[in-house]
Amino acid sequence: MSSYLEAIAALGGGSLHPGGFSHTLETMKRLTISPDDVVLDVGCGTGRTACYLARRFGAHVFALDKSEEMLAKARFRALQEGAEVHFVHGDALNMPFRDEVADLIVMESVLIFLPVRDVLKECYRVLKRNGVLVDVEMLASESLHPGAREKLKAFCGLPQIPTLGEWVNFFNEAGFSQVFMKQKRFPGVLEKFKEALYLDSCRVVSKELMTVNNLKILGKYMGLILRNRRSLGFGTFIVKKQPA
Ligand SMILES: C[S@@+](CC[C@H](N)C(=O)[O-])C[C@H]1O[C@@H](n2cnc3c(N)ncnc32)[C@H](O)[C@@H]1O
Repeated sequence: MSSYLEAIAALGGGSLHPGGFSHTLETMKRLTISPDDVVLDVGCGTGRTACYLARRFGAHVFALDKSEEMLAKARFRALQEGAEVHFVHGDALNMPFRDEVADLIVMESVLIFLPVRDVLKECYRVLKRNGVLVDVEMLASESLHPGAREKLKAFCGLPQIPTLGEWVNFFNEAGFSQVFMKQKRFPGVLEKFKEALYLDSCRVVSKELMTVNNLKILGKYMGLILRNRRSLGFGTFIVKKQPA
């Protein structure tokens, strides 16, 4: 786990992905989710999306994360919100789920931290035929200065910062067919304003972990993003497992 991920776990925010919770709500409008559906939130963080999906659609939601710190906060949120979510401690690279069990997999800012091909292979395995994968990930344009790219990768512990085309290739190579794709600029003032309408009432800050060092890490991350804003963005990918 990178020190950046440890720092955001300490801060305990609810939507640790580009676009935030307002973008999650927009994306979910594109899907049809029924109470019978099995939904996996892979890399669920503090569980905001998982709890929303369980409460809004009454689906069987399983939320997996590798960080116990994140999961503890997610369980607290579920209790507070009265959401029925099954939390699972596990690795996206080797999910403790059987083959073809899920109707929907949601990943928000998770793949970028991991070997993309291996995780997509796992997603393909656990999805039912015609099952859907929704993924929101940061991307970079060709204009991102190589030095800045390497700095951001090293700082956040990212094996890669793909371009839009590279993301699309990853999904295609893994055997998914594209349903929807949208590229947006990295959240600007308008998105920040929208997000302010969705304040997270269940945020749990770990006081003991809010060290000066962790605050510095978050500050440095914001600085790197702001300096390179014009070359960064994020993609929303909705893809489907093709029937055999
Ligand atoms: C940037 S956070 C996003 C959290 C959440 N999806 C959200 O949008 O708020 C990335 C999450 O992926 C989790 N993660 C990182 N590597 C993982 C792995 N190998 N398996 C499962 N979860 C992982 C981290 O613990 C963290 O909760």
